[in-house]
Amino acid sequence: MRLHTVWLTDFRNYETLEISLDRGFTAILGANGVGKTNLVESLALLATLKSFRRAPTDSLVRKGCDKAVIRATGERGGREVLIELELAKGKTRAQVNRQPLKRTRDLLGALRVTVFGPDDLSLVKEGPAVRREFLDDLILALDPTADGVLSDLDRIVKQRNALLRQLSQAARGRRSGGEPGADEAAGLTLDVWDTKLAAAGEHLTIRRENLLADLMPLVTASYRELSDSDVDVVATYVRSWTTDTMAPAIAAARDDDVRRGSTSIGPHRDDVGLSIDGFDSRTECSQGEQRTLALAMRLAGHRLLAERLDEPPLLLLDDVLSELDPDRARALLASLPPGQTVITSAQGLPPDTVPDQVLEHRGGALHPVAQAEPVTEGDAS
Ligand SMILES: Nc1ncnc2c1ncn2[C@@H]1O[C@H](COP(=O)(O)OP(=O)(O)O)[C@@H](O)[C@H]1O
Ligand SMILES: [Mg+2]
Repeated sequence: MRLHTVWLTDFRNYETLEISLDRGFTAILGANGVGKTNLVESLALLATLKSFRRAPTDSLVRKGCDKAVIRATGERGGREVLIELELAKGKTRAQVNRQPLKRTRDLLGALRVTVFGPDDLSLVKEGPAVRREFLDDLILALDPTADGVLSDLDRIVKQRNALLRQLSQAARGRRSGGEPGADEAAGLTLDVWDTKLAAAGEHLTIRRENLLADLMPLVTASYRELSDSDVDVVATYVRSWTTDTMAPAIAAARDDDVRRGSTSIGPHRDDVGLSIDGFDSRTECSQGEQRTLALAMRLAGHRLLAERLDEPPLLLLDDVLSELDPDRARALLASLPPGQTVITSAQGLPPDTVPDQVLEHRGGALHPVAQAEPVTEGDAS
C-alpha cells in the first residue's frame, strides 16, 4: 500500500498535522526537537500498531489529552484505503475502511514499513532481544498469520514460568517440613507445557533460521554497497539448546528451571551472532561499522520484503544521514531501493540528492520547498 495523506490529532507534540507524501522519495527537513521522529513514529504505527521506539501508548498521546488519532489515506491495487487508529490510555482501536479490526494481524497486511533510526544501533550493540525481535517482525511482515505462533509461544513461556515458580515454592516448603506430594499434579501439568514449548519452539526456531539464511546475502550486499568494500558479513543463529530436537534439552534443564523459576530453553533465549570479516560485531567492530551493519540489516529486510511481496514496504529513514560519514550517506541515497521512501534530516541533504518532494518542518507545520531545476546543457548559453 502506498500512503497519500496522513492526519495527526493530539499525537505526541502535534495538536494537528497534515502531510501528503510523494509516491517516491520525500525528504523532511527540520531542526532538532520539531517532531520529525514523532512523525515517522506515527507512520510506522499505521503499519505495526506499535511504537518503533518501544514507547507505551501513554507517551504517544499529547500531554494533557485523552487520545491520539492517526488517520491515513492510501492506495492498494488501484483501490483507496483508509486506516484510522485511535490511541488511548490502555486501549488502541484500529479501523481499515471503517471496519474495526479484530486482530493486529488484520492490520499487518494493509501497510508494511521498514523503519531505521539512530537507536537501531542497538540491533548490533545490545543484547539478543533486539535481534530476535528483528527476525520476528520480518516473519510477521511476510506472513501476518505468524502472530499466532508468536503469541502462543509467549503464552506458553509465561504459563510455564508461573508453574515453575509454583513448583519451586512447593519444593522450598517441603524442605522446611511442609506437606510432600502436593506438587505432583503441577509436575504433570509441567509435562504438558514442556510438550507445547518444544512444538512451538522448534517451529519458530526453524522459521527464524530459514529467514536469516535468506537474509544474509542481502545484508552482505547492502553492507558492501554502503561501505564500498568487499567484506564478508556472517550471521550465526545461536540456539539455546544443542540437542537435535528441543524436547530432551527442556527435560534436561527442568531441575534448573524449577530452581530459577524461569524457562531457559526456547526461542526466547536464542541469539544471532554477527561478524564482519571475522570480527565480532558487538565487541570488536568500530561504532561506524556497527552503524553500517545495523543499517545494512534493515535495508536487507526491506529488500527481502520487496522481493517477496507484491510491492515494496514504505521505507522510513529517521535522521540516519547525520550518523553516517558523507561517503556512506551518499552511497545510501544512491542505492535506495525503489518504492515510497521518507527520510528526515536535521542537517539537510548531501549536495547531489534529488528527492521527489522536500518538506520543511517549521512552526509546527510542513512547508513544501521548491527544488532547484536540474541544470541542462542548453541553460548555459
Ligand atoms: N506525549 C507528548 N506530548 C507532547 N509533546 C511530546 C510528547 N512526546 C514527545 N513530545 C515532544 O516531542 C519533541 C521531540 O520530537 P522528536 O520527534 O523527537 O523531534 P526530532 O525532530 O528531533 O526528531 C520533544 O520536544 C518532546 O517534548
Ligand atoms: Mg529525531
